[in-house]
Amino acid sequence: MKYILANWKMYLNYEESVNLAKQIKSLDTEDNLIIFPSALAFKEIVSMGFETGAQNVSWAPQGAYTGALSAFLYKEVGAKYALVGHSERRYIFGENNEDVRKKVESCFDVGLTPVVCIGETKEDKDESKTQYRIKKQIMKVFDNLDIGNNKIIIAYEPVWAISHGGEGQPCTPADAEDVMGLIKREILEYTDNEIPILYGGSVDEKNVLSYVALEDCSGVLVGSASTKIDSFTEIIKELSDIN
Ligand code: 13P
Repeated sequence: MKYILANWKMYLNYEESVNLAKQIKSLDTEDNLIIFPSALAFKEIVSMGFETGAQNVSWAPQGAYTGALSAFLYKEVGAKYALVGHSERRYIFGENNEDVRKKVESCFDVGLTPVVCIGETKEDKDESKTQYRIKKQIMKVFDNLDIGNNKIIIAYEPVWAISHGGEGQPCTPADAEDVMGLIKREILEYTDNEIPILYGGSVDEKNVLSYVALEDCSGVLVGSASTKIDSFTEIIKELSDIN
């Protein structure tokens, strides 16, 4: 069954989050749907019976870290997943590969499944550094990582394809396929575990099937379109037909 991950980013206030969740609930979908709401709406969305994940976690479990929320704290209120290394965290808030690795390990420590976001920037792409960037990001996550019985998901999100609320410049399925194939091969250098690979970046109701049809694509990570009930309903419908 393909994954549908809804990253609501900082688009919705509390009331909008709860209302959207109610509308999604009424669709009664059987799909592998995971919602990443804001921290403020988190508990309410959990209480409505959704699988949920944190949009970000601190690597420290607890203590004097003003403004931070850890994997440990999210787990306690019902999270099962956490986005780690989203490009908006990397490039707006300055997180590096070392932070990402520590966050993956902090998720493992409490039993959250990290959804590690990787992808090249526009600059990387223009300088033909996509392979270099992807290989480095994967190496930093997986090298000597003790996965044990934990699960980990990788989301390929080309940074230049993310919509930032307006019209995005989607990656062609053919290009996504190339990079996701590379990701799959690279991961095999470090582990034989089954690691689902998702695609994210301007996914909407019109293009979602073209991504999930790709051989190495286990689902989608949707930003902007997951915050609009009409688009998101269509995305869920498209996927439930093939799930
Ligand atoms: P958009 O779907 O808005 O391009 O966002 C993608 C994303 O960053 C999901 O994490």
